[in-house]
Amino acid sequence: MKCKKCDQKAVINLQHHNISFCKEHFLEWMRVQTERVIQKFHMFTKEERLLVAVSGGKDSLSLWDILWQLGYQADGLYLDLGINDFNNYSSDSAEFTRRFAEERGLQLTSMDIKAQYGESIPEMAARTKRGHTKPCSQCGLVKRYLLNKLALDGRYDAIVTAHNLDDEAAFLFANVTHWSLDYLGRQYPLLPATTGFARKAKPFCQIYERESAAYAILSGINYIYTECPYSDGSKQLRNKRYLNMMEDEQPGFKTQFYLGYLRALKAGAFPQQQESAAKLEEKRCAKCGQPTQSDGLCTFCRLVNK
Ligand code: FES
Ligand code: ZN
Ligand code: ZN
Repeated sequence: MKCKKCDQKAVINLQHHNISFCKEHFLEWMRVQTERVIQKFHMFTKEERLLVAVSGGKDSLSLWDILWQLGYQADGLYLDLGINDFNNYSSDSAEFTRRFAEERGLQLTSMDIKAQYGESIPEMAARTKRGHTKPCSQCGLVKRYLLNKLALDGRYDAIVTAHNLDDEAAFLFANVTHWSLDYLGRQYPLLPATTGFARKAKPFCQIYERESAAYAILSGINYIYTECPYSDGSKQLRNKRYLNMMEDEQPGFKTQFYLGYLRALKAGAFPQQQESAAKLEEKRCAKCGQPTQSDGLCTFCRLVNK
């Protein structure tokens, strides 16, 4: 197996593209692909300030590295969720992230949820006792809220997350099987800013998980290998497995599935519900001022306020 570009021994074969690369040309290919997606969806420019959500995992550190190498002004945000019960997931991932930023001289903001709000994510979830043992929904809510808040407070032009093609295809699969039209109308990789909400972009939306892992390993990025202990047995992981089976039989399946969705979205197949600015101004959280659909407090303030 030889590199398509230089004829040297290849270290990776991308079956769905039917190409192989040596280390150097694979890393270059990843940067080119990411830049292409940024341009294709008009995500952001080099003059804008970006806030990258980093977890210490392969996807977010690879993305941050690529954005930095491409010359984007990308700062990192790490949220310490306080998930240390089964392994040291949060403490270890905080350390990987800190070292990554330090080695490159990048700006990293870290927030310890427990220090800030008095409870870790598992503690918040246990208190709210919604009949679920896992804290994933509370965790998602807190992460979305704080990422948005810190981006707005820091006057960033866009929030950047490292959702890869496997993540997007698995969400899509779940949303299609449940016919969640509401979600299907919102899964575009670029969501423009609206009242109270920062712009959100996903530059890895066409990058396979395997590729972002290979990028991290081949470029010597130290990242946390363990997953969040609560992700075990999740629907998202199960859907990823199903899609991997399809991909094994039909290389390129995930790409086709995702790009087909984007075409359908563009053709108006799903309602793209963008709340109008006036509507968002109507109701504001009494505590934090965020637009909210409920009276009084927003869901985040209700969760941390109890
Ligand atoms: Fe949030 Fe696992 S519960 S990362
Ligand atoms: Zn090569
Ligand atoms: Zn609020």
